[in-house]
Amino acid sequence: MEKCHRLEDWLSWMDELSSNDYVIVDNFIDGHKLNVIQSFFKSHLDAFTKAGIGALNDNIIRRDIRGDFTYWLDRKRDVQLNEIWSLIDDTIYIYNRYCYLGLTGYEFHLAHYPKGGHYEKHLDQFKKRNNRTISVVIYLNKNWQQGDGGELEIFFKDGTSFLVEPIEARCVMFKSADVPHAVLESNKPRYSLTGWLLQQPAELGQLLG
Ligand code: OGA
Ligand code: NI
Repeated sequence: MEKCHRLEDWLSWMDELSSNDYVIVDNFIDGHKLNVIQSFFKSHLDAFTKAGIGALNDNIIRRDIRGDFTYWLDRKRDVQLNEIWSLIDDTIYIYNRYCYLGLTGYEFHLAHYPKGGHYEKHLDQFKKRNNRTISVVIYLNKNWQQGDGGELEIFFKDGTSFLVEPIEARCVMFKSADVPHAVLESNKPRYSLTGWLLQQPAELGQLLG
């Protein structure tokens, strides 16, 4: 159970997510965890690579669609982030315990949009792999101001949309298969920790018997 948040907070966030398909939680991570991620980010910036579109071998680089650079995290290697891994464990525990989502894993990366970067409207699922269930984005932008750009645009079924400012320590969670979204052009470097809570793909479940 994540010590930073009360169960009743989690329950109200999950309520919101199930009725609206997304939820925004401000101050999701405390100052200490922020510092840990931000210094990890700075010390790994050289290792970031251009993000592609599509799963694994299908990874095609399209700067016109997606302009960010990413660094995929690995729990065994990136032990400096242990507090973050615990927070992710707690999040998965809560979703499974109270929403019966049957989450069995996760994948997370750090993302850096240089000035001018954007990501066109998309869904966080791949044609060949549809086990991404909940998308989780935690923003790391100190002193984000109006005009800095890089807002997350969330599209609704009625054709309207809503802008989420990428404010430091804010977390946005949404249903990966149901919420089309985009990242507007960023006028400053934009930083986030982004990941997906996964259900085991059916075919893999069969293989593993
Ligand atoms: C993504 C994405 C949103 C954001 O990486 O798929 O849509 O606000 N990110 O960074
Ligand atoms: Ni996305």
